[in-house]
Amino acid sequence: MPNRPQPPEPPQQPEPPLWEQWAAGTAQPDDGALRDGERLQKVLAQTGYGSRRVCEELITAGRVTVNGTVAILGARIDPEIDLVEVDGRPVPVRAGLVYYLLNKPTGVVSTAKDTHGRPTVVDFVPEEPRVYPVGRLDAETEGLLILTNDGELTNRLTHPKFGVEKEYLANVEPAPVSPRALRTLRDGVELDDGLTAPARVSQPEPGLLRITIHEGRNRQVRRMCDAVGHHVIRLVRVRIGPLSDRRLAPGEWRPLDAAEVRQLINATPSEVISPDVPKRGDLKARSSRPG
Ligand code: URA
Repeated sequence: MPNRPQPPEPPQQPEPPLWEQWAAGTAQPDDGALRDGERLQKVLAQTGYGSRRVCEELITAGRVTVNGTVAILGARIDPEIDLVEVDGRPVPVRAGLVYYLLNKPTGVVSTAKDTHGRPTVVDFVPEEPRVYPVGRLDAETEGLLILTNDGELTNRLTHPKFGVEKEYLANVEPAPVSPRALRTLRDGVELDDGLTAPARVSQPEPGLLRITIHEGRNRQVRRMCDAVGHHVIRLVRVRIGPLSDRRLAPGEWRPLDAAEVRQLINATPSEVISPDVPKRGDLKARSSRPG
């Protein structure tokens, strides 16, 4: 075969100097830097796990894994890609994750957009980066709500299998609530979506209930109270897992600090326990138990 004439090679452009590439936004990251990543103990320390020394000890003790493999001291990671876990719980090492605690006022909906034009919880916090509420409070319910762009933590805080406690104060009518009704609330109430799990319930004042649940079904507290003949006239969430804040006024928000985020993660078990959710018909058997 005769050699076909080849098109002439385009003239080679010399590569512009690196500083010009950075200015034009065309610079490629150095492969070596990417491969090397950041030191694991430094990244851990930045997320609030304690000093670098403490984080080194965690690594040496074999409590830290990267992508499921026990990490060794000196390991480097890419926080944008690698999954870091301590004692089996994910650590939010990715840059750009934000966590806010809002005291939701009444009349505000817990969605990103409301079809009826009502204010939403995201209207209260910075627009960027975009965050989502962790679970929901009814429009009429007040109190603590977390907003974040950390999907993993959202899942752990809302999934019933992790059983994170939520505590509410409920003003109910008529007052007071009888010891029998309190016992029913504690043992489990038959609702149209099944029996509720055991709850902690006390009555610090006549008609004021302190209720701690870990299921998070739709309008659960209101429906539980209705089921024992008491209507909720005011409902406030005062605690999410380890997190409470009496100084945050309705409508106010603040960022969570690294230690608070870590406490929240620690409130979700690393070994998933099966939820203590009784089935329909279990009530009789359980209510005969002491306590
Ligand atoms: N239970 C309710 O009834 N409403 C809420 O908003 C939260 C828990």
